Amino acid sequence: MFKIIHKEELNKDTTGIIIEAGQIADKARAGQFVAVIVDENGERIPLTLADWDKDKGTITLIFQRVGFSTKKLGLLNEGDSVQHILGPLGHPTQVKKMGTVVCVGGGVGVAEVYPVSRAFKEAGNRVLGIIGSRTKELLILEDKMKTVCDELFVVTDDGSYGRKGFVTDALKELMGVIDKSSHNIYPELIYAIGPVVMMKAVAELTRPYGIKTIVSVNPIMVDATGMCGSCRCTVGGKTVFGCVDGPDFDGHQIDFNELTLRLRNFSEQEKSIGGQI
Ligand SMILES: Cc1cc2nc3c(=O)[nH]c(=O)nc-3n(C[C@H](O)[C@H](O)[C@H](O)COP(=O)(O)OP(=O)(O)OC[C@H]3O[C@@H](n4cnc5c(N)ncnc54)[C@H](O)[C@@H]3O)c2cc1C
Ligand code: FES
Repeated sequence: MFKIIHKEELNKDTTGIIIEAGQIADKARAGQFVAVIVDENGERIPLTLADWDKDKGTITLIFQRVGFSTKKLGLLNEGDSVQHILGPLGHPTQVKKMGTVVCVGGGVGVAEVYPVSRAFKEAGNRVLGIIGSRTKELLILEDKMKTVCDELFVVTDDGSYGRKGFVTDALKELMGVIDKSSHNIYPELIYAIGPVVMMKAVAELTRPYGIKTIVSVNPIMVDATGMCGSCRCTVGGKTVFGCVDGPDFDGHQIDFNELTLRLRNFSEQEKSIGGQI
């Protein structure tokens, strides 16, 4: 059992919890995730390690309450325990000193891009952050992102906060500036996490510039340990498993259309069971 020691509602449908999980915190690296089983009848759901504290032996998970298991997890309170957490899983993001790195996060993806941005900053890079949400109330972790980015650009779809538009609009603008200016701010890497449609748009935008673009994929996972094949994706024409080969992949090589279709595989079952909370 893994005890929840802190719970915070970050917005109307996103919850952050800090959980005692010393062994996971000890090994955690940016870009990795855990598989959570909420209670004894629960399924495994993958959630990114949004933060961790090796000294306190805790990990932070930030999740959107979209369906059966995330809603059940959201009902737990401080002092309650999660049945099981397996991790850290997946390959850590490959972080090294490169120069300028642009980190893009959309929606709950901001929670996932935060530890990656921090790791790139700690490795000595200049980190430019772009974060966005549909509307002001849904924006999360702006203050935390500010602490790890040299510059942070905030956008909302409806213009209620920051600049109006999508994260790709801010990136497009940045690319325009990059294109015309000196080599020293040219990004070596763009890293993006968010809805599939957002990651696809980011990859299409950077493709003509030939800037390496890494995305963190979110396929449906069942076992999260490479045995069931449910997280299958196609990258560069080859079949890979999101859980053990990823979750980071080359955004210019991934088949986003297939990923979108596969995410709908269980939508009927999810709809029928999601209402049972
Ligand atoms: C490596 C990885 C890391 C992730 N990290 C986070 C995270 O840090 N925070 C977070 O909020 N979510 C994260 N997700 C997505 C999260 O796992 C799903 O939202 C969750 O499994 C949904 O379970 P559920 O039972 O609540 O919803 P379900 O009832 O299973 O589904 C409800 C709705 O969510 C959609 N959905 C289901 N699985 C996924 C998925 N993998 N990605 C996107 N949509 C999905 C369904 O299509 C449906 O529309 C991550 C996914 C992966 C693969
Ligand atoms: S979730 Fe089963 S192989 Fe990846």
